[in-house]
Amino acid sequence: MKKTHAFAGLVLSTALLGAGLANAFAADETLRSLADKNGIYIGAILNSQWFSGGLPGNYEQIHKQQFNIVVAENEMKFDATEPQEGRFNYNNGDKMVKYAKQNGMRVRGHALAWHSQVPGWVNNYKNDKKKLLAVLKNHIEKVVSHWKGQVAEWDVVNEAISNNEPQWRTGSVWYQGIGPEFIDSAFVWTHAVDPDAELCYNDYNLEQGINPKAKAGFLLEQVKRWVANGIPIHCVGSQTHVEDTTTDKHFIGSPDSLRSLAKELAKLNVKLKITELDIGFKSGINVSQRDLQRQGQTFRQYLDIILEEPNADTYLIWGVSDKWSWLGGLNRQKGLIYDDNLKPKPAFDSILVRLQTYEPPKDTAKKDTVVQDSSKKDSTKKDTTDAIKPFIAPSSLSLHVAGRTLFVTGFTSKTAKVDIFDMQGRPVFSTENNKGVFDLTTIAEGLYVVRVQSGFSNLTQKVSIK
Ligand code: G3I
Repeated sequence: MKKTHAFAGLVLSTALLGAGLANAFAADETLRSLADKNGIYIGAILNSQWFSGGLPGNYEQIHKQQFNIVVAENEMKFDATEPQEGRFNYNNGDKMVKYAKQNGMRVRGHALAWHSQVPGWVNNYKNDKKKLLAVLKNHIEKVVSHWKGQVAEWDVVNEAISNNEPQWRTGSVWYQGIGPEFIDSAFVWTHAVDPDAELCYNDYNLEQGINPKAKAGFLLEQVKRWVANGIPIHCVGSQTHVEDTTTDKHFIGSPDSLRSLAKELAKLNVKLKITELDIGFKSGINVSQRDLQRQGQTFRQYLDIILEEPNADTYLIWGVSDKWSWLGGLNRQKGLIYDDNLKPKPAFDSILVRLQTYEPPKDTAKKDTVVQDSSKKDSTKKDTTDAIKPFIAPSSLSLHVAGRTLFVTGFTSKTAKVDIFDMQGRPVFSTENNKGVFDLTTIAEGLYVVRVQSGFSNLTQKVSIK
């Protein structure tokens, strides 16, 4: 069933915005509810520590409140699911599928044919092409059929392209033992077992341009070939593990380049998904509040692709909190949208506000199925500068703008904190005082989203500054 955007008007409602509050209350508007309305999937991995019960309760609370799609960090990989030849272990994957079902989430499967996290026994057959083909085929058939109808999409082939030059990665056990035909075969075998699953090719550095010398350029040629030859490929997953542009002087990727890839894929009727997003800073540097705000803008720019390109539907972050992130191994830090204490970072706000303010072109259909949570009411509203609907406990907060002054009344806590975002979710103003009067002369004319927080009260409202 196609879902058209129900988010036609500008939806602005109070949300569980800002540090701490997203954890404290049942969400009224969350990333998840706004993603549902916008017809996209937004998600984060379940970190490996979750599977052994090693994470605090609010991790899971946040995860199910904020996200409508989930993927396992390691638990559906080859070494986890077939640690010994022919002996399959689905326990952790089943645990995640059950969690997803209980919480109405879509499940991504990651990953079937990959050079990494391959158990040692596979290498015993590295010189036996026939046997290796049989091993990969059997693995795919068993795993995909086990979760048939429950895993909606698979990374069928992961990271099969070389980093340095536009060609296949030749060092993998699959490539060395079988040759490039393992790639096409993996798609065909997966499709034969679960014809309803979406099948993706997934890789990193795809945001570095689509010229023939870049990874995405090489991939595009392969996608054209697959499509022309009837190989069942439905999506390209861009991992999008990127570094903050100011700390990586050699950084050559950009949201614009990834958008170009999405547009090229659209011509082939293939989707683009962002599957493993993180935007880290170099390890060891001091990261300022300003840096975190700039990071939020980059998160927002990548989100724009998913919101705006008709063939893009998924925005998946490789982790929830900076505390449990693989990025340290890459000499990067603080790449996620919650901090070490599971408090939302500026990037969370940028994403949330962008989801709130996004206005889709009329009559656009986004994706085939959207996780619908019928318990949530539709808060779609006409564009309005009225105050946003109340939420949580009744709050006496109110705000109005007269000329270039913002007045906040009704705050019961000592101070009122004001954050102002432009309509793309970029923070433009942030301050706190106990008077409730805020000078806005530094802000340019235009429409903005103002958020006021005081104690446990929140108010978010669109204002026009003239
Ligand atoms: O399985 C052992 C476990 O038995 C042992 O107790 C534990 C102690 O350190 O190590 C465990 O293995 C680790 C595994 O994660 C599970 O936690 C490996 O050492 C570790 O290397 C592995 O790292 C994972 C990495 O993939 C491996 O390539 C990361 O958690 C995971 O986030 C990362 O994810 C990949 C995507 O699959 C593909 N794209 C890149 C992305 C980041 O590298």
